[in-house]
Amino acid sequence: MKKIITYGTFDLIHSGHIHILRRAKKMGDYLIVGLSTDEFNMKKDKETYYSYDDRKLIMEAIRYVDMVIPEKTWDQKITDIKEHETDIFVMGDDWRGEFDFLNDYCDVVYLPRTRGISSTHVKNNMIHLRDDLH
Ligand code: CTP
Repeated sequence: MKKIITYGTFDLIHSGHIHILRRAKKMGDYLIVGLSTDEFNMKKDKETYYSYDDRKLIMEAIRYVDMVIPEKTWDQKITDIKEHETDIFVMGDDWRGEFDFLNDYCDVVYLPRTRGISSTHVKNNMIHLRDDLH
């Protein structure tokens, strides 16, 4: 069985997230998502709309996702890859080059991001929508 792992915050799920998860799953049989915890997001200065538990619930309902594990630190990836015997590490190409060191443990693939959408973009659009209504 070919296992894939990817990481991210996955707040306010949008088409870009679904595209990367679908393409990641297509590369093998079993997709693991390291989902950033709220504490880890705070360290990254990232504030989410949904809590970790809600984001996990949503991720687990996506057909391409087989397992969700917490991403608590920058340094856990090698341990995760070894523990879950992962064959491929996948990230969006906004991270190109950043994780090449993982090549010692598995294949590293950067997939092109979907253009024109992000959780930040969704959030900003919602704010504008609300302002327009008032
Ligand atoms: N991603 C993607 N295409 C997008 C947005 C995200 O392929 N348009 C990928 C990222 O490259 C990453 C994964 O989805 O591998 C999770 O990204 P995340 O940071 O959670 O999503 P963003 O929408 O980029 O969030 P933010 O606006 O908070 O940075």
